[in-house]
Amino acid sequence: MSSKLGRNDPCWCGSGKKYKKCHQQFDEKINHYAVMGHEVPDHSIIKTPEQIEGIRESAKINIAVLDYVAENIRIGMTTEEIDKLVYEKTTELGGIPAPLNYNEFPKSVCTSINEVVCHGIPSNDVILKDGDIINVDVSTIYNGYFSDSSRMFCIGNIGEEKKRLVDVTKECVKKGLEMVKPWTFLGDMGQAVHEHAVKNGYSVVREIGGHGVGLKFHEDPWVSYVSKAGEGMLLVPGMIFTIEPMVNMGTDKVFVDKNDEWTIYTADKKPSAQWEIMVLVTEEDHEVLAY
Ligand code: MF3
Ligand code: CO
Repeated sequence: MSSKLGRNDPCWCGSGKKYKKCHQQFDEKINHYAVMGHEVPDHSIIKTPEQIEGIRESAKINIAVLDYVAENIRIGMTTEEIDKLVYEKTTELGGIPAPLNYNEFPKSVCTSINEVVCHGIPSNDVILKDGDIINVDVSTIYNGYFSDSSRMFCIGNIGEEKKRLVDVTKECVKKGLEMVKPWTFLGDMGQAVHEHAVKNGYSVVREIGGHGVGLKFHEDPWVSYVSKAGEGMLLVPGMIFTIEPMVNMGTDKVFVDKNDEWTIYTADKKPSAQWEIMVLVTEEDHEVLAY
């Protein structure tokens, strides 16, 4: 983070103020961490108030779409029908489903049932049955701004074991969120998530993580949920990223479907759960933008 700006130049953030009256001290503080050997954020992932407002509007649509799925999801429905719900609600609200055609992903949403960890592709052949747990992962583009969140849904009567997995995974996200504050580290959050999962006898997927989000679908930093306190990127106000751990009942090992090259499964075919929120680091604390 070497800023070549002069003290009297306009600030990089677009406020129109002089650098010395705006982000100069902020940059010096970040630079201090960089000198100490920490990974620090680039200006490109620190959002301006105007960008945050745009991202917040996108996130409102994302929330509304997931609320709509929650109202309509039911036993006997195909995941293709969930895709239709997501496409229709997103476009009705003026948004574009971000997954559609993203790196050739063929649908508007990811639907991941039981042993599917993530990136399940909606299909006419997959029918929700009694006892299933499903993650519905919705992402929206609105006015060029991106949002991303996902929830678990329990179909019919799920057993005690799956219920506990779903609940503990949600608790993991909450424990992680509590650690998100400016001038702490991403690993503080990751360790809190991991510890809670392990304490409950579960494992956390290592290869797939969360991400910065807002101006693009996937931005820096890459976000691990098996990381260590004091490590990982420094958090500063204006950063936005996802907390979306994939928590497995058995092994943390996963593999990708050879045919579709998207669907990720647990190696032992035991169930996996995931909840995803999108969080903004604020001056004092944090704000959940999407859930
Ligand atoms: N929504 C997923 C995430 O949380 C991304 C899925 S990429 C897609 O990062 F193409 F499968 F949609
Ligand atoms: Co995400």
